[in-house]
Amino acid sequence: MIHLVIGAQWGDEGKGKIVDLLSQKADASVRFHGGNNAGHTIVNHLGRFPLHLISAGIFNIKCQVFITNGVIVDLEVLNQEIETLKKVLPDFKKRLFLSPRCHVIMPYHKILDKLYEKTKGKAKTGTTGRGIGPTYADKVSYNGIRLFDFFDNNRLKEKLSVILPLKNKIIVGLGGTPLKLDEVYQEEIAKFKKIASYVKETFSPLMKLVATNKKIIYEGAQGTFLDNDWGTYPYVTGSNTVPGNINAASGIPAQYIKRVTAVSKTYTTRVGSGPFPTELFNADGEKIRTNGNEFGTTTGRPRRCGWLDLELLRFAVQINGLTDLVITKLDVLDDFKTLKIAIGYTLNGKRIKYIDCDSYLLGKVKPIYKIMKGWQQSTSKIKKFKDLPKEAKNYLKEIEKNIKIPISIVSVGPERNQTIFC
Ligand code: GDP
Ligand code: IMO
Ligand code: MG
Repeated sequence: MIHLVIGAQWGDEGKGKIVDLLSQKADASVRFHGGNNAGHTIVNHLGRFPLHLISAGIFNIKCQVFITNGVIVDLEVLNQEIETLKKVLPDFKKRLFLSPRCHVIMPYHKILDKLYEKTKGKAKTGTTGRGIGPTYADKVSYNGIRLFDFFDNNRLKEKLSVILPLKNKIIVGLGGTPLKLDEVYQEEIAKFKKIASYVKETFSPLMKLVATNKKIIYEGAQGTFLDNDWGTYPYVTGSNTVPGNINAASGIPAQYIKRVTAVSKTYTTRVGSGPFPTELFNADGEKIRTNGNEFGTTTGRPRRCGWLDLELLRFAVQINGLTDLVITKLDVLDDFKTLKIAIGYTLNGKRIKYIDCDSYLLGKVKPIYKIMKGWQQSTSKIKKFKDLPKEAKNYLKEIEKNIKIPISIVSVGPERNQTIFC
């Protein structure tokens, strides 16, 4: 049985915390798309871990952990993550699987990511600078390098001798320094050797788990509005975050998904450029950033903060076929006297939906707000829904009323035990 956990907003909703929690009872957990643009913070009995590639299921020693073909891999980052986890976990060589079909983020991808951003100036995407867009672009334009290519040194060298001169032309054209083939080759081979023992086909073991009805958690990265097709293009990421992508990105037919849970904050944040209708530029926004420690896990950039946007959440329910919603960071709004929730948008005085807007139009819409009373008391130690302040319950019920699916979990702090199962 596949339980997919994805982001309902623009990423950083708290997916890491929720997957760590849920995978305590899972047989496997899977990262299926994105790369180390993701930063999933896990706080548990072993410490605080900002993971970028390995799924939170690694903390359950009975859980098999997969990185499937849809993920793009920076070999250095993966190796560092393995080394960090090795210090606190028993040997996990037998339970970590890395697909040989994964594309590799090469040094020139990271250079190009930064050069494109610099050249675009004000029109930049605000990427994480991890080489994500250029690596996915090479994948779809048949210029990518996969882990398979590292199985044979000649194969890698041959491929690089075709691709690198091409990349160097662009790098030089944009004012960068060209890379030397032999250096790139030697460095990447050395990095590969450190992680080679984890490279194992992921499709068959995953299918076996599916066939025997084992519980598999799929850990989404980014969020619905960063999806390459359905997000706020071109201010999106290089992969698809929607559930259907599990087939292309891991081989497993989508019909095996039995539950799709999306995670949303009690408010909204976004990192990088792009439209954000409920963004706050006042003291309330600052207060959310401070209370919620809203600084990126991957890049440390301050996150843009704003009110909860139910127009976006309603679209997330539809496009993802959500079964339930997790609300995180309720505690961050504890000391607000009044709160606002966007229940829809207008454009030039007329109602308009997210689906009818591209990024240009979404940048012009005006949110319609419902004003809600704050609860003005601490919620971070509350364990049961019935013990939440009346105003917090009303706030959560307002969300449920609008999105028409149940809230299954409310999170009131980063730790595992700061969780209310509804
Ligand atoms: P992800 O990318 O979706 O996994 O989210 P991130 O890890 O990038 O960002 C979420 C941040 O919020 C992390 O620092 C978490 O430890 C933290 N967090 C998660 N849930 C809660 C919560 O309910 N309350 C508070 N205060 N922090 C939370
Ligand atoms: P997690 O999994 C928040 C954003 C970047 C930028 C855009 C494109 O931690 O939720 P990219 O480097 O992917 O080409 O950048 O996407 N972005 C994220 N924002 N959380 C993430 O991941 C993100 N991954 C990418 O800030 O706006
Ligand atoms: Mg994150």
